Amino acid sequence: MKKWSIASIPGDGVGKEVVPAGQKVLDTVAEVHGGLSFEFTSFPWSCEYYLQHGVMMPENGLDQLKDFDAIFLGAVGNLDLVPDHISLWGLLIKIRREFEQVINIRPAKQLKGVTSPLVNPKEFDLLVVRENSEGEYSSIGGRMNKGEDELAIQNAVFSRKASERAMRYAFDLAAKRRQHVTSATKSNGIVYSMPFWDDVFTDVSKDYPSIQTDSQHIDALAAFFVTQPERFDVIVASNLFGDILTDIGAAIMGSVGIAPAANINVNGAYPSMFEPVHGSAPDIFGKGIANPIGQIWTAKLMLDHLGEVELGEKLLDVIEETTTAGILTADIGGNYSTEQVTNDIINRLRSL
Ligand code: NAD
Ligand code: IPM
Ligand code: MN
Repeated sequence: MKKWSIASIPGDGVGKEVVPAGQKVLDTVAEVHGGLSFEFTSFPWSCEYYLQHGVMMPENGLDQLKDFDAIFLGAVGNLDLVPDHISLWGLLIKIRREFEQVINIRPAKQLKGVTSPLVNPKEFDLLVVRENSEGEYSSIGGRMNKGEDELAIQNAVFSRKASERAMRYAFDLAAKRRQHVTSATKSNGIVYSMPFWDDVFTDVSKDYPSIQTDSQHIDALAAFFVTQPERFDVIVASNLFGDILTDIGAAIMGSVGIAPAANINVNGAYPSMFEPVHGSAPDIFGKGIANPIGQIWTAKLMLDHLGEVELGEKLLDVIEETTTAGILTADIGGNYSTEQVTNDIINRLRSL
């Protein structure tokens, strides 16, 4: 019997509703498969934890996580309790950085039965590879002066190592898909980092002669995500550009509530972390209507990562059976609850 030990961090808001849903589905996947089980250990780290302890996770928190096979996280952030930059940098971004989860993979494709807000969209299936360790998310800078002269300086950091790593990851994925990588740039307006990013992209692309490439400014690229998403295969983007693009990718699928993501530790030294694209959704928290599909599709990415690719494919098929049957939460036009959607997926898994 293969046993995967998973650290579970529901976090804040709807994370507390969709993580248990994802776990129940994973337990069912294991039950249906037979020779497999998941052992979840839940950690209460969240903004409420911060109010009690003054920190988002204990000092030895990373030590507590490091030997798990993977981390399954919901969302972090409750602005009523803790400023976002404190909660996010104290938990989510801390784990991404300290565990060298340097790549963030975020697919976007049409799910059967989920209506895209685009009118008559052509079929799209794209994958954003987001650089997840540096870029615009840096702690270098500062706030200074007061009054009229007050200002803030925020530096962005782009290293050849990290940019190249994200790009190679994108090319390797494209080689298994439709052989095309698009680079998200902004070298017309940003004079150091983006021309550098373009140079690294040109250098890396020489090692992949059979892969087609193009480079698009992020503003135009964002518009093409809406007008012609079918033209994209793999897109490689800096941390912030990738963040923004993947909410657009989620939106054209139908809702940010269904979009999955994986923070990958590529050197195998630490666990990777699986969390949906969406946040803690305070506007719907507590109503039982959060869409669990983002978290459940994220569970599929975790299965892929653990080498259970066939099971992952089956799970995605079952998600689509549920959506095709019209068992949908409100964000995608239905009136089913988180629990009803989750139970429908579970029942379909059981009857496979
Ligand atoms: P959000 O993704 O939480 O919400 C944006 C919109 O999408 C809201 O209308 C929300 O109701 C909806 N939505 C999100 N998830 C949904 C789901 N599963 N089902 C149905 N609808 C869903 O983004 P926000 O409002 O900008 O952020 C709220 C908080 O979450 C902030 O504190 C933010 O910093 C944090 N956040 C955390 C993460 C993370 O932990 N990975 C990601 C994004 C935002
Ligand atoms: C995401 C989120 C985070 C990010 C925030 C909450 C810091 O938006 O995972 O997409 O920007 O990385
Ligand atoms: Mn985001």
